[in-house]
Formats: sequence, structure tokens, C-alpha cells
Amino acid sequence: MFNNSPQIFDKIISLCKRRGFIFASSEIYGGFAAIYDYGPYGVELANAVKREWWKSMVQYREDIVGLDSAIFMHPKVWEASGHVAGFSDPLAECKSCHERFRVDHLLEEAGISADEKMSEEEINKLFAENREKIKCPSCGKKDFTEARKFNLLVQSNLGNFAEDWTKNPVYLRGETCQGIYMNYKNVLDSVRVKIPFGIAQIGKAFRNEITARQFIFRTREFEQMEMQYFTHPDQEMAEYEKLKKYRWKFYLGLGIKEENLKWYKHEHLVFYAREGYDIEYNFPFGFKELEGIHARGDYDLTQHSKLSGQDLSYTDSKTSEKYIPHIIESSAGVGRTVLTVLCDAYCEETVNNEKRVVMKFNKNLAPIKIAIFPLLKNKPKLVKKAKEIFNDLKERWMCEFDDNGNIGKRYRRQDEIGTPYCITVDFDTLEDDTVTVRDRDSMEQERIAVKDLKRFFDEKFNR
Ligand code: GAP
Repeated sequence: MFNNSPQIFDKIISLCKRRGFIFASSEIYGGFAAIYDYGPYGVELANAVKREWWKSMVQYREDIVGLDSAIFMHPKVWEASGHVAGFSDPLAECKSCHERFRVDHLLEEAGISADEKMSEEEINKLFAENREKIKCPSCGKKDFTEARKFNLLVQSNLGNFAEDWTKNPVYLRGETCQGIYMNYKNVLDSVRVKIPFGIAQIGKAFRNEITARQFIFRTREFEQMEMQYFTHPDQEMAEYEKLKKYRWKFYLGLGIKEENLKWYKHEHLVFYAREGYDIEYNFPFGFKELEGIHARGDYDLTQHSKLSGQDLSYTDSKTSEKYIPHIIESSAGVGRTVLTVLCDAYCEETVNNEKRVVMKFNKNLAPIKIAIFPLLKNKPKLVKKAKEIFNDLKERWMCEFDDNGNIGKRYRRQDEIGTPYCITVDFDTLEDDTVTVRDRDSMEQERIAVKDLKRFFDEKFNR
């Protein structure tokens, strides 16, 4: 099914709320722009995405180790990284209603192809040339201020008790990789790693995004899954090509349809990058960045060496060659991957003249792996048996016990949250100790002995 339409996007957003995947933050106070909360099924889905990423980037790799660095770092980190001076988006304000917008987004809405990755100068020129065509999305007037740079770093007064703390703010990290650079020496000195090696981490990042739209695609608080790979300068580009292939395969492993993925080569590189490619996904609002894969050269360690005064070079123990490692990175958002998985899984089918909405998640990502139903909730023997099976299986898989409503209704609910298997305990179970197992995708049902259930599901799910 083709999921590229605004109508489908609305349906996915509504399903996310209705079925407990994703909620707007602080909803009872009218929400809080560009911040979202993950509900009971959303957190399971996000955890499954993170688990798969960690397996692929750490567990299966002898050359990559994990890290969990703090959100707050010394403010010099963000000076050295270039974020204080250069991490900004072009912003314009409507002079009539005073709403603020990202200029590249205003252009896009006026049908002027403003590539998100254009340089700031190019966007400003395009904005000036097209002022007449651009209406304020809020009030409809055509009177904007000049575009100006707006820094995306989020500031905090942590540990600063002065009244005018904004003069010396600390920052909530704008990307998780800086914590990796801060620990590169610690890892080198404490764990037996040799170049080439990588450090991976998953954690929150914060950006004062100007426009809040497209659901969890672009949020002000989000999680990143980043891996920084430290290489000899001569190896950088060869390792970069390997990493690109590895990351593409990761998404296929999550079950994402390959026709919905494509490469985007950056013509205008961000300030730190030597080469940059994005893996884009065909979201309902078009192909957009899912993950960035950058060759960062020696930019980061050189900058941090300069500002900290510490020697961050590497000495090869065999050749005694001393050099600043070059870094290649893979950087993906958890929320964006969750949105990709949701969009790719959403499916509407007609079954016996009735519409069925089903989330065809990869089985290993499904929030609930197995649902267990007693056929009737007012038959204590059926309920007891179903509870026994539930208690047994839940030790190994995320399971749900459901005795609400008729079986058809329970199937529909589990289809909407993407549960791959439903078990029904019926009167035959009490006679022969077998149950019905229903497959989400084929909707076929088979009879399986209770004693064989664990072996059956072991073959269906990865560890
Ligand atoms: N360390 C490199 C870096 O942070 P980026 O292209 O700015 O690069 C990497 O971000 C990834 O993080 C993006 O591809 C996206 O998946 C995610 N991301 C970035 N900003 C985001 C936002 N405001 N909301 C959700 N995800 C975001």
C-alpha cells in the first residue's frame, strides 16, 4: 500500500493517539509545541528500535563500544564544536502577527523549491527574490522581516545562580556525538581498542527548532542514535563507504521497504563535514532525511585539542605514527526512525467487505509480541487457563492479556497495534490442551499444543 499522502499521515497520527503510541506533551494545558510523549505502545516500539540499533552498532561489532555521556557538558564544548557560532537556521518574522517561521519552509509552502540543505546565503537570496509570493501561514499577510540567523542551541542556568545567567549559559546538548569526542581519550586509555574503532551512544538532544510541524519528524527534544568511528586519515573514505552500506542494510533489517529509501548527497555541506549523505525515507510528506552519514575529517578532535589544550592525537603502537584521527559518523533520530517504522507498517485492507487497519511491523519491533485471549470472560476455567499461558509466555516476550469485547473486536485492536500473534483459549483447550494461534498478516489460524508454544514463538522472534 502506498503511504505517501497527507490523508494517510493524519490517519497515522490519529492512530498513534487513539492506540497509545504517541501523545502531545502537556495536552491538558493545550500541548507544548514540538514536544511529544511516548505512550505504552510507543515506548515499546522506540525501545525495540533502540535495541536493534544497539545490537547492530555495538553487540555485533568487535570494533565498536558503547557509551552513555551526560546531557550537560562544559560550555567550551559547544564553542569548540562550532555550534555557538554556526548552528543556526534562517528565521523571518511576520510583521503583522509576529509569528516566526523558518525561511526555507516558507519558500517551500509557496511552491518555491527551497532545498532544506541549501546554504544560508542561497536561501536568503531566494527569499528576497520571492517576497511577493510568500504569505504568512498564520495571518495571510505578505510583510516579513529580513531573514536572520537563529541559533538552535537550547540554553540553561544549570549551576549558574547569577541573575543575568544568560551571559554565561550552559547548553543542553544539540547532538550526542560531542559527548563521544569528550570521552574518546578515556575510552582509548581504558578499553583495549585500536584504530579503527567506534563509540556508539543513544541519548537525548535538544534544538530550538523554529517550526514545529510534521508530528515527531522534527521536535525540540529528541533522541539520537550516533556512532562515531575513528580512523587513520587514509582509511576515512573507505570506511565511510562501508558504513553507508552497513546503515542501509540496517533499515532493510528493520523491515523498511527498500523502494521507500533513497540516498541524498549533500552539495552544501554542514560546517564540520567533508562529505555527507543522508538516507531519506518516503514519508507521507515526501522523501526527507532519516539519517545523516558524514565524513567529518579531523575537524572535531582538532577543535577540541585547540580549545582544551589537550593532545587528542593517536599514536600507532606498531608504526609509532602520530596523527589526529579522522571521524566518520552515523547519526539517526529515534523519533524519526519510529515515524519511519510507523509509516512503513501502516496498512488498510478490506476483509469480508470490512476495512481492516493493521500495523505490519517487523515482528521483532512489534510493541506487543503475543496477545492472549480467553474466548469468554465469564468462564472462569477459560480465564484461568489463559492467565496461566500469559504468565508463562510473558517471561520471554512482551505479552498482553485481553478479555474485553468479542474476539473480532480484540483482533482488530491487536491488528491496529501490530501484534503479530493472538492466542485464543477456548473450550477445546480444556479438553486437549491446544490453543488457536492467529497470524496478524495472513489472518490464518492454527491449532498448537500449549506445551509447544514456546518452541513455536522461539522460531518466530529474534532474541
Ligand atoms: N551529529 C550529527 C548530527 O546531529 P543532524 O543531521 O543534525 O546531524 C542527525 O542530525 C539526525 O538526528 C537526523 O538525521 C534526524 O534523524 C535526527 N534529528 C535531527 N534534528 C532532529 C529534530 N529536531 N527532531 C527529530 N530528529 C532530529
